[in-house]
Amino acid sequence: MLKRVIPYAHQLIQQVIQPGELVIDATCGNGHDTVMLSEATGPNGIVYAFDIQAEAIINTQELLKEKQLTNVELIHDSHQNVDHYLEKRADQQLAGAIFNLGYLPGSDKAIVTKPTSTILAIEKIASRLKVGGIIVCVVYHGHLGGTAEKEALLDHLKQYDQKQFNVLQYGFINQKNHPPFILAIEKKQAD
Ligand SMILES: C[S@@+](CC[C@H](N)C(=O)[O-])C[C@H]1O[C@@H](n2cnc3c(N)ncnc32)[C@H](O)[C@@H]1O
Repeated sequence: MLKRVIPYAHQLIQQVIQPGELVIDATCGNGHDTVMLSEATGPNGIVYAFDIQAEAIINTQELLKEKQLTNVELIHDSHQNVDHYLEKRADQQLAGAIFNLGYLPGSDKAIVTKPTSTILAIEKIASRLKVGGIIVCVVYHGHLGGTAEKEALLDHLKQYDQKQFNVLQYGFINQKNHPPFILAIEKKQAD
């Protein structure tokens, strides 16, 4: 069976993360990806989880508490500022990062990820990624502004040097209503 988008996104990142490593959830939302990353990195690992909405930070905090997971630093800020938070871990490389683009399910659909900040965050994360590390973006694009973000991201990532990165697109082309798809960026070679 072909994997659905979310399980495949999780598989892609889980297969490159080792316990004890540093990873990022760039859009924590309701916390589902944060929990997956927290479990994959284990008690000696660390997850930096970003969101611009207080509601998302609270929802994620509650889910982590319920699951008794303590290796997550919740950051109420835009992922485009990721480099500020990584400064204090300058000695550590990033194993991976996940983005879920779009709006917070069950919340204000006008608060969405934006092309400029998404691309800036990807650039900053890619420069700190270990060789073999991966950035997985689940691209939801059915909302207002979603097409522009999708196109900006595809245009940007198509230009990545194939000697340094593999960039994968994965999705179902016969599903109705703007199905989400994955863009995954694997680092092959150091900068
Ligand atoms: C599709 S939802 C994420 C869903 C989440 N991964 C989950 O498992 O529930 C997208 C989230 O991105 C957040 N967001 C939008 N712009 C952002 C930014 N610049 N930095 C960090 N988070 C952002 C939204 O507030 C929203 O919660």
